[in-house]
Amino acid sequence: MREGFLWSASTSAFQIEGAYLENGKGLSTVDTRNVPEGITDTKIASDHYHNYKEDIKLMKELGLNTYRFSISWPRIFPDLTGEANEKGIKFYNDLINELIKNGIEPLVTIYHFDLPQVLVDEFDGWLNRETINYYEKYAITLFESFGDRVKKWISINEQLMVMYSKDFNGIRNVDGDEYLKAAYQMSYHMTLAEKKVMKACKKIIPDAIIGPSYPFQVIHPYSVNTEDIIAAFDTEEILNYYLLDLCVNGKISKLNDKYLKEKGIYPKTEEGDNEILHSSKPDFIGVNYYFPLAAEYPKEEANKNLPLFWQSTKFNIKNSSVLPTFEWMPHGVDPASLRLALKKLQSRYGLPTIITENGLAYSDVLDEKNEVNDDYRIDYIKTHLQECKKAIEEGVDLMGYSPWSFLDSLSGRQGFSKRYGLVYVNRTEDNLKDLGRIPKKSFYWYKDVIKTNGNSL
Ligand code: BG6
Repeated sequence: MREGFLWSASTSAFQIEGAYLENGKGLSTVDTRNVPEGITDTKIASDHYHNYKEDIKLMKELGLNTYRFSISWPRIFPDLTGEANEKGIKFYNDLINELIKNGIEPLVTIYHFDLPQVLVDEFDGWLNRETINYYEKYAITLFESFGDRVKKWISINEQLMVMYSKDFNGIRNVDGDEYLKAAYQMSYHMTLAEKKVMKACKKIIPDAIIGPSYPFQVIHPYSVNTEDIIAAFDTEEILNYYLLDLCVNGKISKLNDKYLKEKGIYPKTEEGDNEILHSSKPDFIGVNYYFPLAAEYPKEEANKNLPLFWQSTKFNIKNSSVLPTFEWMPHGVDPASLRLALKKLQSRYGLPTIITENGLAYSDVLDEKNEVNDDYRIDYIKTHLQECKKAIEEGVDLMGYSPWSFLDSLSGRQGFSKRYGLVYVNRTEDNLKDLGRIPKKSFYWYKDVIKTNGNSL
């Protein structure tokens, strides 16, 4: 890989920190979501809050030069008083200093799913423009507190998921078409907020770079029938390019403009918005990629069992029938689709990219020697990294790779049985055991990849 390639690994606050009400932290939407019976919640997670020094020691051993983590918004602003929680600031100051002391550069996600619940209770969260101001104030506080040491920022993690997931956005009592309209309104407000924050970042930390982390949906046509090819094209236009066009160019494509107006879900705008939309641009696009999907021309009603954003009258989302699947990866695994995603982004936006998430979920178990032999994960990361190399050779400006996740964490949608980590955390859904850290076989394999700057791949 090129000199200065970011060898990283990712986590997010609510998925690893625990300490969910400690030292002044407020509740977030992910703390208040309905957790199904038998699945753990955010209270302890991987207990990183109390073990961050030990975790950073392992990051150093792994050889990371970068670490992607998120700051918990309600740990910094637990309420609406406008006063930042000093203990929250201190925790992240200590974490950042410890990383730097160990030669690891922080790559900080400002907002990763955990909207302060108080914003939902008071204003309906992202449905209300007020939340734009709260996000801006929160981000400015981070820039002013940590900007002397943090030069790489992620504005919003997976806006697509936030607009559609009621667990994340907290709008839990609206359904059907009304919800779809609300989802587009929330996302429009997030885009305005993101634009303001990208501008503020440049002003406060002139040598910083900032961009979104986007869950790029790679959609293959389900058959070579042209109608299916068009359905796949439409799916990407609606799911990827609507948000990315706005984030990068401050514009909605003509195709999306027509689609949203026809469906009656075009967001409400205000005078002056256009200026905000054109006031800043990301420096890079963070790519979260796990698996591809297929789309076919919709011959029947949308499948109501799929997540909301995959239900549409323009396309019918299917799993590919030819890809290998795993228990937690039912949509199949396809490394070459990552190269395709990178090439599509390079071609449409011409911006550098960073893989901010990529990984394999598995119900890993410790064997009798207290080891996790996760060859399946090694194979997944290796083949995806090989595709990254090919993408670079073909002209993609890829700055770094940050697999999900550094250590086992609470899943975004499921619990602790679904593991992605390079480091095993010794707990189950309902038994905290000793919460010990055990590097998996993939940890040692990735260590070698980093040491050789990717030449061992
Ligand atoms: C991404 C998120 O959607 O995918 C992570 O940014 C999440 O927070 C990851 O953990 C994997 O999803 P899940 O639901 O399997 O944990």
